[in-house]
Amino acid sequence: VDLRQIPTEQLLSSPAVKAAAEALRDGERVVFPTETVYGLGADARSEDAVRAIYIAKGRPSDNPLIVHFAAQEQVERMFRHLSSPARQLMNRFWPGPLTLILPNEGHFASSVTAGLPTVAVRVPRHPVATALLQTAGIPIAAPSANRSGRPSPTLAEHAWRDLSDRVSYILDGGATNMGLESTVLDLSLEKPTILRPGSITYEMLVQQLGEVDQVMLDSPTPDTPRAPGMKYRHYAPKADLWLIMGDEEKTRLQIQEQVSKEMAKGKRVGILTTEEYKDQYQATMVVACGFRKHPQSVAQHLYQSLHQFDQAEIELIYSETFPLKDSFVAVMNRLVKAAGGKIIEV
Ligand code: TXA
Ligand code: MG
Repeated sequence: VDLRQIPTEQLLSSPAVKAAAEALRDGERVVFPTETVYGLGADARSEDAVRAIYIAKGRPSDNPLIVHFAAQEQVERMFRHLSSPARQLMNRFWPGPLTLILPNEGHFASSVTAGLPTVAVRVPRHPVATALLQTAGIPIAAPSANRSGRPSPTLAEHAWRDLSDRVSYILDGGATNMGLESTVLDLSLEKPTILRPGSITYEMLVQQLGEVDQVMLDSPTPDTPRAPGMKYRHYAPKADLWLIMGDEEKTRLQIQEQVSKEMAKGKRVGILTTEEYKDQYQATMVVACGFRKHPQSVAQHLYQSLHQFDQAEIELIYSETFPLKDSFVAVMNRLVKAAGGKIIEV
């Protein structure tokens, strides 16, 4: 259902939002936009509804889900034992792209947490998500609305391609504005630890908490992943993706050389670059993913760029890389996983 033209104040009374909320209350699945990526939601209290999410995505059952709430007060009412850092972060960053890992007090179906003693919660900042969650009035478990392993959806049509036959409704709120999944911060450990970088950055969290650990560019298959999701190959386009790392100018020369070589063999080859450099390349398809001078714009366009290569049936992609600061940390985290760790250093 297209909700792009509906003003925020009319969303709560929109028939589409009411119907989708009703479907959620009946144990069905609904795709909805958030400020990060589209989510595939279902009743977090229902074992059957949650299991159906794992099946729809083809997701391994040991990779737990995030529970979404309409407002911070609902989380405060439900959780009896919120630490003071937890409250502080909620006050500062909610609604917004920060997921907190809290001690599991047993409010949800056990498949939500994959049996872990902790649970992930967040309050998204998107008018459609808020209207839906508020109308449904129940906690909603929602992973990203993609088939497991594929790039996350930043447009309703991405979710449509992956899941249209497996959900009751897809609510179209247009392009998501952050473009990468929420930052996941584990507050159950001795030191708060970033398990998945996002647009609430390390620097922002340190400013609030003083000390923060981060699991940075973890290898795609660490032996003992702390966020269960980290051990799987993720975000991958259909093409083989290679990251070129090193001096920026050498990187560009290396990319063009590789691309020309592969194109001479008849391959469909793509280049992932930014607006600053896109005119310097020749390939089957050159995609500019935001501006290097605005890390958040690269984050915003990353998944959409990967989806574009898929649509054009590109077989091989060479990508530029980014310095590990600000939102680039999250961008590089996703790129390294999407590439399955294939990096060429120049
Ligand atoms: O931005 C987002 O967070 C989106 C939107 C839809 O809200 N959701 C999302 O969900 O990205 P998903 O399922 O694709 O990713 C959830 C991540 C996974 O890496 C998972 O392993 C981790 O959160 N996670 C969930 N519960 C956890 C827990 N109890 N302990 C550690 N990691 C957890
Ligand atoms: Mg996901």
